[in-house]
Amino acid sequence: MTESSRDFLRKLQSFPRKALGFFPTPLVALPSWLPGKTPEIYVKRDDLTGLALGGNKTRKLEFLVGEAQRLGADTLITGGALQSNHCLQTAAAAARSGLSCHLALSGSQPPSLTGNALLDTLFGASLHYHGALRKGEGMEKMSQELTLQGKNPYVIPYGGSNAVGGLGFVAAGLELWEQLAGLPKKRNHVVIATSSSGTQAGLLAAQVLFDMPIEVRGIGIDKEDFQNDQLKQRITKLTRELTGLFTSREYDLPQINLYDGVLGEGYGVVGEPERNALSLAATRLGLLLDPVYTGRAFAGLAELLEQEVFSPEDRVIFWHTGGVPAVFHYGPSLLLAGTGP
Ligand SMILES: Cc1ncc(COP(=O)(O)O)c(C=O)c1O
Repeated sequence: MTESSRDFLRKLQSFPRKALGFFPTPLVALPSWLPGKTPEIYVKRDDLTGLALGGNKTRKLEFLVGEAQRLGADTLITGGALQSNHCLQTAAAAARSGLSCHLALSGSQPPSLTGNALLDTLFGASLHYHGALRKGEGMEKMSQELTLQGKNPYVIPYGGSNAVGGLGFVAAGLELWEQLAGLPKKRNHVVIATSSSGTQAGLLAAQVLFDMPIEVRGIGIDKEDFQNDQLKQRITKLTRELTGLFTSREYDLPQINLYDGVLGEGYGVVGEPERNALSLAATRLGLLLDPVYTGRAFAGLAELLEQEVFSPEDRVIFWHTGGVPAVFHYGPSLLLAGTGP
């Protein structure tokens, strides 16, 4: 490790952090399910982070809750879609940390709660329904109201994707790099579901700060993210903010690789590619995926492999970012034709 890397590591360790998950998560080789010579494929099991049935948000929340506690907050506020994995993880993180939790969710109160929303309430979170707003747009108003009631709330942005949350994925990049050091040297490509941008930006920041030659490829899961190139811009901005927490040096950022081939009918709409991906991962690999993020990302990975984007000599790491409890919300729409009861 170079002197500057050691400095950056010390800096990373100096940010307030609340231990919420089990790290490192396993890096596991997958059997090849494709004919012919293909790259080695591994899965990074962030579905096993251990907080509320796992997921990538545990990593962000360790730093976000650390910062909330530093500021003396007694309440966490965040928001997202009704079945948001981020909201579930935040509810669990709040419970573990002795904080209250208020969630700004899309839609209206359903007749009965299922999947992630059901678990939100088990963790004691208060649910607020905000109609068409699915990215936590009402959070600031909720924060003002809670402040008037004498609370000290800490607002976590949509997806936990600000510089504080992104630190979780700077640490994750280092974790992966250490695991790869124990494997034969190859070109490494990470494939992840990407949306609010903290996961991809954190990994990119780790890449530039610690000089790790890992190529990161984000599979878009939300059509809206691709309007006016906004996802790319968000990732660039957040990566810069993250490196700026460590050094005033302006790095040339690596290329931001985004794939928009599996956006389907829009956010959270399950189609044939997600059904195929969930079925293939479950029946051939014994791996559960979720329909909104990792299922779509796995479908994207399958397309990239088909397009021979990676060389057979390379290693591809599919980052399983969690989301599995949502399976219990989507029910029979996940089954391939002819496989239901
Ligand atoms: C399961 C899962 N995977 C991936 C992502 C995308 O991560 P990010 O929002 O950091 O881009 C999310 C975001 O909510 C998620 O819930």
